[in-house]
Amino acid sequence: MQQLAAYLSGNKDRFLSELLSLLRIPSISADSQYGTQTAQTAQWIADRLVEAGADNVRVCPTAGHPVVYAEKIIGSHLPTVLVYGHYDVQPPDPLNLWDSPPFEPIIKDEKIYARGACDDKGQMYMHIKAFEMMMQTNELPCNVKFMIEGEEEIGSPNLGAFVQENADLLRADVILVSDTSMIANDTPSITVGLRGLSYIEVSVTGPNRDLHSGTYGGAVGNPINILCQMIASLHDENGHISIPGFYDDVQELNADERTALNRRPFDHAAYCRYLDIGDTHGEKGYTPLEHVSIRPTLDVNGIWGGYTGEGAKTVLPSKAFAKISMRLVPHQSSDTITELFSRHFQSIAPPSVKVTVTPHHGGEPYVSPTDSIGYRAAVKAMEATFGTTPIPTREGGSIPIVALFERVLGIKTIFLGFGLDSDAIHSPNEHYGLFNYYKGIETIPHFLLPLPN
Ligand code: BES
Ligand code: MN
Ligand code: MN
Repeated sequence: MQQLAAYLSGNKDRFLSELLSLLRIPSISADSQYGTQTAQTAQWIADRLVEAGADNVRVCPTAGHPVVYAEKIIGSHLPTVLVYGHYDVQPPDPLNLWDSPPFEPIIKDEKIYARGACDDKGQMYMHIKAFEMMMQTNELPCNVKFMIEGEEEIGSPNLGAFVQENADLLRADVILVSDTSMIANDTPSITVGLRGLSYIEVSVTGPNRDLHSGTYGGAVGNPINILCQMIASLHDENGHISIPGFYDDVQELNADERTALNRRPFDHAAYCRYLDIGDTHGEKGYTPLEHVSIRPTLDVNGIWGGYTGEGAKTVLPSKAFAKISMRLVPHQSSDTITELFSRHFQSIAPPSVKVTVTPHHGGEPYVSPTDSIGYRAAVKAMEATFGTTPIPTREGGSIPIVALFERVLGIKTIFLGFGLDSDAIHSPNEHYGLFNYYKGIETIPHFLLPLPN
């Protein structure tokens, strides 16, 4: 361990400059214009894995962006950890809200500012550097495999097939993922639950063309007005979602579990101040910490139609659109919820409009066991480097593919994340603390070492 610490402090600057190089490549999986750069990013990671000492390094083509695979097998009797992460990033727009360009990383106030700094290039790259350290100091205690994908931010459409086709290659005892947050830099936590997702696009069509809003307004249903009414009706006055059957499979936590979940520090006034909101807003009967972890949600992500250009144009539009996401909790199923939504949304449409419902990606919620060797190893690792016991938390985000890992490979996932909720992932000015980057690199070897043979 001492050798590891010396290696880390001797190579800190290089570890940082390598990450900055990675952050300069715009691997935006959602935007086909960046296909070349996304492929280039996969190759860049593969090259770094080779340098770090991995074997069998491959850039595996898929129907979409490639998966990078690598491994170091040091003994068939030893446990195997499969590291999963993603090298793709969210689109950076709106660009005008960034204080510095998203793909020109800068260090400010001890933080790295760039798209992907935290989600997930910074967190993923910690594993490659931790691996390098263990290789260079002869301290790698177990087998390690890497599976780094390039389509997480678009719902991993091709990773399921890759996992199915490579189930043998991917065999492991535990999957380790750094793509979540912790409570604070002095309050480490381990994410033990993530929500699932159903993502849907709807369209509402009224008249067969845009109309003069004076000539026809009043007699012809306005698709935007109607879409807004339909969306508004999806919540009742207590913030419950009013789709019939929506809550049927929701697991209710018992009083002890809820008390435990609310034990983590949460400063309501500071939360409101941080977000510039007058108050929080959520389902009656639950706390904000519960709203973002153990309760399902329905949110409009985007809504458009009609005239949005400069000045005024009197128009009764022909069409209106919205993108809607629902975050799901155990034991809701993404397919079932998508089906319930579709049926309900069609049923509440008045006869003056036609409605289409198009499902996008989805995924199941996930809860990792706290009574496993993997969880205990994660606790020990954080205790060793933070000097305090991490708190188990459940987070609101989704990594849908982990439920599939369990179903197809039969392997559980441990989330050892080092981000903070304030890192602005998916937002302008995404950043990742230097403390968090180095702490991650320091902590990961401690996870691997106590795994029993
Ligand atoms: N790293 C996030 C998931 C996450 C965010 C976990 C915050 C914990 C806290 C991941 O890259 C992500 O953004 N997932 C998407 C889902 C995907 C299907 C697009 C999400 O949660 O919206
Ligand atoms: Mn991520
Ligand atoms: Mn993300």
